[in-house]
Amino acid sequence: MRSLDLSAETFRALAHDLTNFAADYLEKIPQLPSYPSGINGRETEHLFGGEIPMDGIGAAAFDSLPKVFENSRPASPRFFGYVFGSGEPVGALGEFAASVLHQNAAAWRSAPAAITIERTVIRWLAGAVGCAGFSGSLTLGGSSANLMGLCMAREAQAPANNSGVRGGVIYCSVEAHMSIPKAAALLGLGHEAVRLIAVDEAFRMRTEDLHRAIEHDLQAGKLPIAVVASAGTTATGSIDPLNTIADICHEFGLWLHVDGAYGALASLAIPDAFSGMERADSLSLDPHKWLYQPTGCGCLLYRDSTAAQRAFSHSGEYARVLSDDPIEGFAFFEESMELSRPFRALKLWLSIRYYGLGAFKESIHEDLRLAKVLAESIDAEKRLERLAPVALSAVCFRYVGSGDLDAINRSILSRVVRRGRVYISNAMISNKFCLRACIVNHRSTEEDVRSVISEVLAAADELKQTRSVGV
Ligand SMILES: Cc1ncc(COP(=O)(O)O)c(C=O)c1O
Repeated sequence: MRSLDLSAETFRALAHDLTNFAADYLEKIPQLPSYPSGINGRETEHLFGGEIPMDGIGAAAFDSLPKVFENSRPASPRFFGYVFGSGEPVGALGEFAASVLHQNAAAWRSAPAAITIERTVIRWLAGAVGCAGFSGSLTLGGSSANLMGLCMAREAQAPANNSGVRGGVIYCSVEAHMSIPKAAALLGLGHEAVRLIAVDEAFRMRTEDLHRAIEHDLQAGKLPIAVVASAGTTATGSIDPLNTIADICHEFGLWLHVDGAYGALASLAIPDAFSGMERADSLSLDPHKWLYQPTGCGCLLYRDSTAAQRAFSHSGEYARVLSDDPIEGFAFFEESMELSRPFRALKLWLSIRYYGLGAFKESIHEDLRLAKVLAESIDAEKRLERLAPVALSAVCFRYVGSGDLDAINRSILSRVVRRGRVYISNAMISNKFCLRACIVNHRSTEEDVRSVISEVLAAADELKQTRSVGV
């Protein structure tokens, strides 16, 4: 017997206890604070730091799990920070099953069921967002999907895999996600190769400015390669004019990548808002955001799989696929930057089959409705000011009083988080610090969303009492 052996009986007992613990936790989520109270860095170091143990403690290792859960931000129905989904539990069971199964979703030959299921899920997602016929793969998240999409763009327009990077310009709006300049840096193009195009009053890319910037670069002898259109910007959820941008890409022969990490899945509920998305060459979307999956489930879709192979196919002899059969010879590693890959699709496949796509569509509709309810309540409250239109489910606003409004709203935000009844985050809108609630949460009710207002006002009242800042 080896020292890492675990009997089926012991596994069963551990899993049984863990399942009970997890179910109790899920039941308690609505009553938990939206942020762990009294938490600090010294305490988490004390609890979870420590030296590597040479001798195991057996089942007692699991005794620390309640502390891990207590010191974590729960997937509360009153969590409205960033763009972060709410972790649907059938998906969590799917992660558990995938982990027990322990597949390498690199190629059909190493994981026949996993590869077939991932290709099925990709086909479902592509069809669901109006891009039927696209290929793709599941990724770690939106950032890696954007990196891969732009790598495909670079290889299609200014091939660099063999002889290195020789320039190339990418266009996106000033509101584009930080993963776009990060991708440009990682691809060797550099931040300076990213042209940040101005936005209109609704935070959508100004397409005349885009047109002008491309012409200007061409006249200067630069090499435009791709435009990144946002289908849901992180701060406000604005959707760039996708059709006009697609026309411009067509005119100049540029690659169109749509960053739909936040918004693309909302096309299940409001397809018309995303008209033109189907003209993308590549499209990122995040099931771990608006399909509420456990973290670590993004997706890149693309029109032409040979473009993915051109960017990512670097087969070594040790990995060479030996079958000519289109199913059995399929390898995700030929179309992805990953070789060993987890069976990400299982959670999504189980979750979609368990509830049906209609349930997700309904839930997204509800998130969009709740965002409108919140926006209307903010508009009706004279101590609050809304700072952007609500295109999807992000609502940006601030408290208005006398004094330095940026400082006041910063203090309000930290108080709101500390009070632990609702979690919101922040953004800069037209150089103003704003409070931001983003509803991508299958657990939230209207009452949860309304608590954003009562908590912000309560935090402002607390702040007034401290008289530390004019309010
Ligand atoms: C528009 C947009 N693109 C990309 C990303 C990055 O996604 P991920 O956090 O999954 O890497 C985000 C994250 O919020 C986003 O809002």
